Amino acid sequence: MATERTSLFIFFGGTGDLAYRKLYPSMFNLYKKGTLREHFAVIGTSRNKLTDQAFQDEVRKSLGTAKSDKEAEKFISHFFYEAHDVTDKEHYSVLRDRANELDKQFKLQGNRIFYLSLAPSFFGTVAGYLKETGLTDSQGFDRLIIEKPFGRDFDSAKQLNDALSKSFEEDQIFRIDHYLGKEMIQNIEAVRFGNTLVESLWNNRYIDNIQVTLSEKLGVEERASYYDNSGALRDMVQNHIMQIVSLLAMEQPVSFTDVDIRAEKVKALRSLRVYNVADASTNFVRGQYGAGDSQRAYRDEDNVPHDSTNETFVAGKLLFDNYRWSGTPFYIRTGKMLADKFTRVDVVFKKPLIDIFSFPQNHNAPLEANVLTMYIEPKAGFTLRLNAKTNGQGFQTTPINLDYFVDDKDSKETPEPYERLLHDTMKGDGTNFASWSEVSYAWRFVDQIRKVWDLQQPEFPNYTPGSMGPAAADELIQRDHRQWVYRLNK
Ligand SMILES: NC(=O)c1ccc[n+]([C@@H]2O[C@H](COP(=O)([O-])OP(=O)(O)OC[C@H]3O[C@@H](n4cnc5c(N)ncnc54)[C@H](OP(=O)(O)O)[C@@H]3O)[C@@H](O)[C@H]2O)c1
Repeated sequence: MATERTSLFIFFGGTGDLAYRKLYPSMFNLYKKGTLREHFAVIGTSRNKLTDQAFQDEVRKSLGTAKSDKEAEKFISHFFYEAHDVTDKEHYSVLRDRANELDKQFKLQGNRIFYLSLAPSFFGTVAGYLKETGLTDSQGFDRLIIEKPFGRDFDSAKQLNDALSKSFEEDQIFRIDHYLGKEMIQNIEAVRFGNTLVESLWNNRYIDNIQVTLSEKLGVEERASYYDNSGALRDMVQNHIMQIVSLLAMEQPVSFTDVDIRAEKVKALRSLRVYNVADASTNFVRGQYGAGDSQRAYRDEDNVPHDSTNETFVAGKLLFDNYRWSGTPFYIRTGKMLADKFTRVDVVFKKPLIDIFSFPQNHNAPLEANVLTMYIEPKAGFTLRLNAKTNGQGFQTTPINLDYFVDDKDSKETPEPYERLLHDTMKGDGTNFASWSEVSYAWRFVDQIRKVWDLQQPEFPNYTPGSMGPAAADELIQRDHRQWVYRLNK
């Protein structure tokens, strides 16, 4: 049985899509596993006027349970509601009194987690009022969970961070990047630092290049108005991709703790080369999808302007100026309306310096590079591609795969990212959250690309739905005499 954690949760934006679709079901999973038992309570807030009862009915719907489900009903009985406009400073005292009451009723030891599942423009305001009204004055811990996006460039992110840090210390702020909650992203550390075989080869002497692909099959759906102001660079690269890349590039941490892991990630990001105008233009490609067989072009989607120059695809080459990675590029790509939905990392090793099997009488195909593929989602696992002798007479080589995949039974038990991240917050473990330093270095890199793109008019649309992005994304890697490991028509 899991260790019981004790806390009051106050969800700002507690009637929103994220809360109902992800947060409450994740909390229920924690309840079923025993991490949450008797000593927790939830206050949901929004401007909507709901009774506790009506809120509990909505929570039940979000869990998909019936009133006859005793376990679910016990869990739901810990949920309460306060109609609260986050801009109304006076009303925070009502929230405080309710929090104090629940603290006594459920013996919560003054532990509080404030989850801001709101538009980012409110983050600073809420943090300030929580402090000013004394909601953070209880005896236990006070932790603030912030949803993405954290700013839209370095300056706005810094402004937000300055506002938050007036009320909360860095180790009280948990910036969500739900990719960090994914099982296989956490496996990057296990595979790297748990295996001599892997870590001893994990450098520019043996690795030719690393490829990170976050591919989405769907378009913008109902997020068009947000997405058209954000684009793939801000929405996917600045946060998720930079986090994955820093885990792949970092040195071995002194210990497996949030402080030491973050220190190494920051060090890696500091050595990421920030491009000048010419290099940003050469090393980054953007795209926007046009119309497909039964698919509208991005510019024809609801709530997207007909002349939008927003990118729905990014590919790029990242270079680290440090001893481990100098000369070994990291290629990244992400986009909407691509061939399939998946996230994977392909680590391409250098070929043997001499191919002794390839001599004229042998007619053997040249040796292929070893590739370690980490499948992040939807399937989770690894493949290591090696060269081996084909069975039978003669001496031919062929690539074979060593595979490990999480089986269906285990994958059902894999915690959802939000479940893991809520649990980590209760433990006070910031490993799987983005620190301010990481966020700020990521913005500095991304801002340069954005700046260059904002000066140039793109030729959009430039890729068809169901492809793997514009031709320029293939040219980007082919120019270096390489190719994407995952490609169509292979
Ligand atoms: N949905 C997702 O899958 C997802 C994924 C990643 C990140 N996020 C991030 O998570 C946050 C929430 O997203 P969401 O999709 O849940 O948004 P949403 O469905 O629009 O919900 C917003 C919530 O905020 C409340 N709200 C708005 N103005 C308020 C005010 N002045 N005072 C108090 N409450 C207010 C809304 O209720 P009332 O209007 O009734 O007040 C509602 O409960 C955003 O930062 C978003 O970027 C969401």
